[in-house]
Amino acid sequence: MRMYDIIQKKRDRKELSEAEISYFIEGYTSGEIPDYQASALLMAIYINKMSRKETEHLTKAMLESGDTVDLSGVNGRKVDKHSTGGVGDKTTLILGPMVAACGLPFSKMSGRGLGHTGGTLDKLDSIEGFRTQLTEEEFLAIINKTKLCICSQSGNIAPADKKIYALRDVTATVDNISLIAASVMSKKLSLKSDAIVIDVKVGSGAFMKNLDDAYELSNEMVRIGQSFDRETVCYLTDMDQPLGNTVGNALEVAESVETLKNNGPKDLTELCLVLGEELLLLGNAAKTKEEARAKLLDTLESGAAYRKFLEMVESQGGNIEQIEDISKLPKAKHVLEVRSDAFGHVEAIEAEEVGKTALMVGAGRETKESEIDLSAGVVISKKIGDAVAAGDIIGYIHCNDEEVGKAACEKLKLAYSISKHFVPKRKLILGKVD
Ligand code: URA
Repeated sequence: MRMYDIIQKKRDRKELSEAEISYFIEGYTSGEIPDYQASALLMAIYINKMSRKETEHLTKAMLESGDTVDLSGVNGRKVDKHSTGGVGDKTTLILGPMVAACGLPFSKMSGRGLGHTGGTLDKLDSIEGFRTQLTEEEFLAIINKTKLCICSQSGNIAPADKKIYALRDVTATVDNISLIAASVMSKKLSLKSDAIVIDVKVGSGAFMKNLDDAYELSNEMVRIGQSFDRETVCYLTDMDQPLGNTVGNALEVAESVETLKNNGPKDLTELCLVLGEELLLLGNAAKTKEEARAKLLDTLESGAAYRKFLEMVESQGGNIEQIEDISKLPKAKHVLEVRSDAFGHVEAIEAEEVGKTALMVGAGRETKESEIDLSAGVVISKKIGDAVAAGDIIGYIHCNDEEVGKAACEKLKLAYSISKHFVPKRKLILGKVD
């Protein structure tokens, strides 16, 4: 077999066989196939698309490129949750403790952020001493004792995806449905959970910019999950504005703590309740949606979810004083106000631009090697549908370099569109595929 022939076949819109896809994945992962040939094939896939069969073969080959994580040592039914990536998405930090406080084990292997979307592990780095790199023994001991553990991917999970994702990132081939579906599912299937809930973000801050594409991606992932005998459910949720009010690592941990105490923003709380309902149903921890919601709400109202978060921080070596008093989390030197020049109602907030504003003040990574400023970020004070008077504060920039912060204030202002007319609030849950 020759890589040249595989590229030519896809260029000419022909379907690749399982053997050809495996040849590419094995050769690229081992370093035998160079980046320039892999890039050419990715671009041919991007332009000519893949059939369902090809996408399934690609997922299987990427999954088999690495190890699988055996969860049989975790007591009870195992459920997993994934988000395709959004701005201000701190759902895992809240949903995990809520679900675990309902008695269902929640073990999550998370990643770091790249570009304008943040990663859960970076947020947890805001807590002094918090360890995300655990041995398998530590992971099993923690999850079986507290029912909650958020850690980094262990060992060698889907190394083909790691390499291909990095190449897609620099060759403008990220936002292709087959490539995203295979990337997400190869990682999810590596973890031997019983069921998977995926939050597919849709809108200006997400890879999927419109609902049709998000449905296509969801159908693809649900079908792949089923073909591997894994119950998979996708929720399509709004990412046309940031989730909650904060974007930036320590700021998002503080907002998560407030949400766990039932003082969080409505959209963030509601999303955690909806995803939590599904997790409890799939995990046999509730019989109906109503029962699941009542249990989850109780974890917020009784403080059980907050206490579960404290337990997790303690068991993973973190400083709980910073959670008991969130003013002890990393703090930026400057907090700059952003005021509106216009009046009316907020019509749109370009979520991607808000993410890039946070990136500008150091809250994210431009490249894999970049250092993150844990204290930096953006606070949104007005969301879509809110009334605004000229001169009102629409947000804040938390920064350590005042000059960069001032430029970020201008950038945040540009992310907002204000209409003279009434604008309704946005719907959060846009669809479901199962
Ligand atoms: N998230 C992933 O894990 N992979 C993609 O390709 C896109 C989002």
